[in-house]
Amino acid sequence: MLIIWWFWSLLAICASDSFRNQAENIMRTTPVIDGHNDLPWQMLTLFNNQLRKSEANLSALAETHTNIPKLRAGFVGGQFWSAYMPCGTQNKDAVKRILEQIDVIHRMCQLYPETFECVTNSSDILPAFRRGKVASLIGVEGGHLIDSSLGVLRTLYHLGMRYLTLTHNCNTPWADNWLVDKGDDEAESQGLSPFGKLVLNEMNRLGVMIDLSHVSVATMKDALQLSKAPVIFSHSSAYSVCPHRRNVPDDVLQLVKSTNSLVMVNFYNQFVSCSDSATLSQVADHLDHIKTVAGAGAVGLGGDYDGVTNLPVGLEDVSKYPDLIAELLRRNWTETEVRGLLAENLLRVFSAVELVSNIMQVPEEETIPVEKLDGSCRTFYGHSRAPSIHLQIGALLASLASLVFSLHLL
Ligand SMILES: *[C@@H]1O[C@H](CO)[C@@H](O)[C@H](O)[C@H]1NC(C)=O
Ligand SMILES: *[C@@H]1O[C@H](CO)[C@@H](O)[C@H](O)[C@H]1NC(C)=O
Ligand SMILES: *[C@@H]1O[C@H](CO)[C@@H](O)[C@H](O)[C@H]1NC(C)=O
Ligand SMILES: [Zn+2]
Repeated sequence: MLIIWWFWSLLAICASDSFRNQAENIMRTTPVIDGHNDLPWQMLTLFNNQLRKSEANLSALAETHTNIPKLRAGFVGGQFWSAYMPCGTQNKDAVKRILEQIDVIHRMCQLYPETFECVTNSSDILPAFRRGKVASLIGVEGGHLIDSSLGVLRTLYHLGMRYLTLTHNCNTPWADNWLVDKGDDEAESQGLSPFGKLVLNEMNRLGVMIDLSHVSVATMKDALQLSKAPVIFSHSSAYSVCPHRRNVPDDVLQLVKSTNSLVMVNFYNQFVSCSDSATLSQVADHLDHIKTVAGAGAVGLGGDYDGVTNLPVGLEDVSKYPDLIAELLRRNWTETEVRGLLAENLLRVFSAVELVSNIMQVPEEETIPVEKLDGSCRTFYGHSRAPSIHLQIGALLASLASLVFSLHLL
């Protein structure tokens, strides 16, 4: 009896090991391309962005979910690093602060050239991985970080931004966030405002992926309907598995399917199980559900490592992705489906976005109505306003003076 029990246990262990081995074999050629990691935010809050401090050394850093040995063990070959600043910066120093977070990502690539290679297009990701690097890309998290300016949007693109999350946990003057659906914020734009639609068009023109994590359902639907290219959810899970408003409901998953878009599943316990604790198997449930509703081409990974406070048992840090892949293989996902989840679905969306882009088209020059802008520290150079009677008299006197002056010159 004991022998039989021992035999079956051994068989079970061997079987699980074989899934784990199969996972690693797949990941040696198709690594993880993860949609959202907040290590740059940790660099700010732990080290005030002083990356060369000895405690900040990414080879040894222990207090974070992410460090270089863990990325290697997790077969991470591509990472969208999150350039994030909280909503408290809106109408304050948002633009300066986001420039600093983008600079941190650039400096990570410079300081660890044997590990990180900053890339900006879909065709450079896998070659960087094959050279032993983590291809590093920039996602800007929060529409408030462009301060309602298409000029800022374009400039962030030039600095390497390849997705923009349309909102964080606050409305922008042009897009509503998920707290509207929760009843904690007022709807202001009922989705995207007319200026929000210009932002979206300009992102299509540049080739910046539209990220719908954190936005309201109305904003999701507007963007899915208007975008000329597929969109992403860089770090969101399935609403019908865990009814949290940060997750994606099934009717939106249908639109994800019909537009060839992508949901990169978030591992935060609150989004996985709607409670403080969760397991790796529950993350697999989200992946199964999205695959069932939207198809195997619609799933990706956006762990939200270093942006969240608790993570499932079995997915504690970035070294654990192979265990999740082993679980999916155990659930009969095919190798093709797994490679799609790991990297190929994201590469498909990213290259479709690049194909739609047309940087030669003329840039949009419309501006947001000035009364939509808040904050006491603004100047208003360039905004045309009906001249006051005082200004008109001033202008009249000035032109008289210049007439006299030019007559004098003659
Ligand atoms: C980090 O530590 C490793 C190992 O001690 C060392 O080789 C490397 O030069 C350090 N890197 C930085 C950027 O300080
Ligand atoms: C990708 O970006 C690199 C670096 O800017 C560039 O050399 C390469 O031509 C780009 N590839 C494509 C297909 O645009
Ligand atoms: C996987 O497939 C095998 C063989 O077809 C079947 O016996 C098993 O029940 C399936 N497992 C799941 C979780 O669907
Ligand atoms: Zn987020």
